[in-house]
Amino acid sequence: MCDVLSLLSLEELRRILFGEVLEGLPTFCLERWQSLHETAAKVLLSDSGVHPLTFSELLDYGLSLDRLFRVELGYGWTKGSPKLRETISEIYGGVIGPENVIVTNGSAEANLITVASVVRENDFVLVDVPNYMQVPGLLKWLRARTIFLRRSPPDWGFPLDKAIDLMRKHKPKAMFVNDPNNPTGTYMRRKELEELSREAEKTNTLLVFDEVYWGSELREPRPSILEVATPELAVSVSGLSKVYGLPGLRVGWVSGSEKLISRLWSLKDYTTIAPSVLSDYIASAILEHGNVEKLRERAKSIVRSNLEILKKSHTRFSDLFEVVLPDAGAYFLARIPWSDNTLDITYRLFSKYSVLVNPGECFGIPGYLRIGLGQHPPVFEESLQYLINSLARVRGELPAT
Ligand SMILES: Cc1ncc(COP(=O)(O)O)c(C=O)c1O
Repeated sequence: MCDVLSLLSLEELRRILFGEVLEGLPTFCLERWQSLHETAAKVLLSDSGVHPLTFSELLDYGLSLDRLFRVELGYGWTKGSPKLRETISEIYGGVIGPENVIVTNGSAEANLITVASVVRENDFVLVDVPNYMQVPGLLKWLRARTIFLRRSPPDWGFPLDKAIDLMRKHKPKAMFVNDPNNPTGTYMRRKELEELSREAEKTNTLLVFDEVYWGSELREPRPSILEVATPELAVSVSGLSKVYGLPGLRVGWVSGSEKLISRLWSLKDYTTIAPSVLSDYIASAILEHGNVEKLRERAKSIVRSNLEILKKSHTRFSDLFEVVLPDAGAYFLARIPWSDNTLDITYRLFSKYSVLVNPGECFGIPGYLRIGLGQHPPVFEESLQYLINSLARVRGELPAT
């Protein structure tokens, strides 16, 4: 493995990652970290979704090239084609229709337009952390009065009792939840979702769930928030990037009340106007062929195999990191018992050994690394061994804290 030298010093990088993009808008640490490094890394263990499908693999999922070649490259439907919105609504088990769906460019755009349309300055909102951290950044920019609901060790579960107490006390306008959760890999069971929804009804709190990892549950399946909560008070953000292995399509969506969808549509006029017609066509062809379950199974099977590889390697890494075993998602948290400076560790891993993993600092949890479990198992096995060897060397270079 050749040495790759990062162009930035650790201090420069720290200034960028924890600085601001615009006044009041913090740098989106995780995305910036990845954008700066992911195309150069030789060993990529930073992704949170399963390994992407190729075009030719999509032919096995019913995509017709003949029809694809005939797609006219116009603007298409700005809200997403009727067919795509229909197939997306079907994922929600019949509780919504196509009129409740708007297609966006990734769930990133879905989160952006949802937060922008729901939150005003000084609104009281609750937010589940750690998470992908896009929503907390936007809430800060919009100057919402934000209270954090922290998933904490050892179980990293959603703090349901605290959420209910805070809802009763503050009657927040909205609660932003990322479940199944990135980076902890935990998720709420139906009973917890029901309890939260009952309280939301009493306090008139909008439940905005980023459910982009929905369908990756390794234990009992979890319903969408839309299947549980009062329809006017539930919003689901999701997309094809993570569990379905299609991030390059940039297909995400928001599902919610017709009133909300109509506001989001007007906001989308300001962001990207429409999803790409090619992506819209491919996504509807794939979802139409009943591939949802098949793709979810593909994701779970990759993650299960990689978890087995991880467990088998336990003796090789047990003094280097402790694993927080995930129940969902395609990643795990690794606790580093010998240093809290995980940004320095990931910086050295990248600049000296060309290994990319994510620093806990980007999630507000220094002392942890987020490591991807979505690679094809033989690649994961090799990457993990390389990571373990590199991490052992990095430990030797660092003063203990
Ligand atoms: C929780 C969560 N939401 C949204 C996104 C954005 O994904 P995309 O825009 O590719 O759908 C990510 C990506 O990592 C994520 O982890």
